[in-house]
Amino acid sequence: MAEIGQDIAKAKALLESGGLVGIPTETVYGLAANALDPMAVAAIFEAKNRPSFDPLIIHTDSLEKVAQWVEYIPDQLKTLADVFWPGPLTLLLPKKAIIPDLVTSGLDRVAVRIPSHSLTLSLLQQLDFPLAAPSANPFGYISPTRADHVQKQLGQKIPYILDGGSCQVGLESTILGVEGDEIVVYRLGGLELHALEAMVGAVKVKTHSSSNPSAPGLLESHYAPRKPFYVGKLQELVPSFLEAGKKIGVLSLIENFNQVSQDLQIQLSLSGDLKEAAAGLFASMRRLDEAEVELIVAEWMPEHGLGPAMNDRLKRAAAQG
Ligand code: TXA
Ligand code: MG
Repeated sequence: MAEIGQDIAKAKALLESGGLVGIPTETVYGLAANALDPMAVAAIFEAKNRPSFDPLIIHTDSLEKVAQWVEYIPDQLKTLADVFWPGPLTLLLPKKAIIPDLVTSGLDRVAVRIPSHSLTLSLLQQLDFPLAAPSANPFGYISPTRADHVQKQLGQKIPYILDGGSCQVGLESTILGVEGDEIVVYRLGGLELHALEAMVGAVKVKTHSSSNPSAPGLLESHYAPRKPFYVGKLQELVPSFLEAGKKIGVLSLIENFNQVSQDLQIQLSLSGDLKEAAAGLFASMRRLDEAEVELIVAEWMPEHGLGPAMNDRLKRAAAQG
């Protein structure tokens, strides 16, 4: 099993020698390695069982360092970086040759993010290379939001997990790039669209290219529990599965069902707060996936704030195979 702790010097030494370390961010935990070392990056793909056509995000701690890894930052994106970094925002930027092709799956843009987590920022400040870090889960499964989630699934394959507590945001970063003059959103995530649009005006959302092999984060089935997972109207789903004699787990925003045992249902936020709901979403999906149930039913979130990003994850979790 991996050692879990808060020893930045230890994490740094492992990363400098080409090793893998689980790191906390405000979105989800990452599985990190030296992004400039192709062997270290290859070890990420192997540990995650991740297809090599799925490019990785690189993480660093300052715009000065970003300038070392990318050719330039388009003006519109620079405005967003100034406002939202450190934070749950990933920008696709033209890469310099120093970034190995394995990181970008041969694409000419590299995904870059400055995460907002004090422990990881301190680590990044002490490194002279960026960290390539996908979410620290086996490919296709739910992303981890606590150190013990990483331990459970990748603990056999990595020496160390930096423990930064529960992720505050709980959804992966929002991914943006520019196409011509337009800002394009490739993945809905922890940074709300209206916050972006308040800064730069309307953006184009292009998250449905499920056939696009360059971005499996957009594959139809992803972020998925192992148990059958249904999303719809709980008022209909719950009684119909109960009548069919099924043992179900229920994931709702607020609603509670008397017919279902309390420990097999989770309300994401009793006050209907979508930030609170997002922060608990993945841990709740995991808990129900591990519970004594045959299947899980969940409901769609309201279409505002982080609702659309949560619905994106629920939809992919429900898509089978
Ligand atoms: O919040 C996050 O973004 C977390 C934390 C650890 O930073 N990371 C994360 O990484 O979610 P990952 O690998 O699970 O998802 C990254 C997704 C890829 O699946 C791909 O869709 C997209 O980012 N991506 C990365 N580089 C890209 C590129 N050069 N062009 C297009 N899409 C890219
Ligand atoms: Mg992922």
